[in-house]
Amino acid sequence: MNLSIQLAPKHKQGLLLSNPVMTAAGTFGYGTEYSHMFDIQRLGAIVCKGTTLEPRDGNPQPRLAETACGLLNSIGLQNIGVKALIREKAPLWASWRVPVMVNIAGETIDDYAQLAAKLDGVAGISGIEVNISCPNIKAGGAEFGASPELAAEVTTAVKAATSLPVLVKLTPNTGDIIKVAVAVAEAGADAISLINTLKGIAIDITRRRPLLGSVIGGLSGPAIKPVALHMVYKVAGAVELPVIGCGGITTASDAIEFIMAGASAIQVGTASFTNPSAPLDVLEGIEQFMEEEGLEDIAELIGIARR
Ligand SMILES: Cc1cc2nc3c(=O)[nH]c(=O)nc-3n(C[C@H](O)[C@H](O)[C@H](O)COP(=O)(O)O)c2cc1C
Repeated sequence: MNLSIQLAPKHKQGLLLSNPVMTAAGTFGYGTEYSHMFDIQRLGAIVCKGTTLEPRDGNPQPRLAETACGLLNSIGLQNIGVKALIREKAPLWASWRVPVMVNIAGETIDDYAQLAAKLDGVAGISGIEVNISCPNIKAGGAEFGASPELAAEVTTAVKAATSLPVLVKLTPNTGDIIKVAVAVAEAGADAISLINTLKGIAIDITRRRPLLGSVIGGLSGPAIKPVALHMVYKVAGAVELPVIGCGGITTASDAIEFIMAGASAIQVGTASFTNPSAPLDVLEGIEQFMEEEGLEDIAELIGIARR
């Protein structure tokens, strides 16, 4: 069976994954945290925690709240910063078979460009995923990814600063995700991943205060799957680039739905918190489905529900 996927067909080196199962940023640490739990080398790719120019402590506690079929988080991009990532994590990744992509986050377009330049050519880093669900401090805190123009500007700046394949990760918190997807594709993204979390809040009725320390959080988990699937379906029909589906994927059948909707690869996020080997379970379930259905190539499933 062939499960391999070319995630960056327009890129000169390309980005070939042995299978379509990836981990979602911020839910799988740096990969190292999970390496004793299962054979992470079998995954298609690992996307590491969101990384910023300087280390960040993140938002005030509490940062997590469970919801019906979902999770609200406001971690606030707690991370070790790009210098420590290059020094401490990349050398280890360089010895791995599984490609690792670094998810980057910035407050200005220049932050993104600087991050991309620093990661360029570092052994152990196979690609960059650009998190555009971040507030733009020069434009009153609106998310870069809410505007097609700003999303394109970030993409152009990152592409100009690196020779690595660049995935741009879309936010669902925008009026028209198709316009953003098309703008990002035209600006030179090698692939598009979606979706990031949906904005949400919860209130502690005893304290009569918002439950999360920073009030607003991002909703993830099974609750968002139909929304994510709808957006993947629409975006896959609007761009020629590979699309990576993410949002509430917990089982192999969830993953197959995204692939049938047009995703070339998928990311497992929140599911790893309740079942650390969820990404591997999803992969094995896809293999089993293909065997049962007599399929030889994963390509036979991509976008099949659209035809
Ligand atoms: C605790 C937590 C931290 C996250 N951190 C990041 C991050 O640093 N960068 C990013 O692009 N997305 C981040 N995300 C979003 C996920 O990568 C994913 O897009 C989202 O959770 C939807 O997928 P899921 O429902 O499978 O979790 C985070 C999600 C959670 C739950």
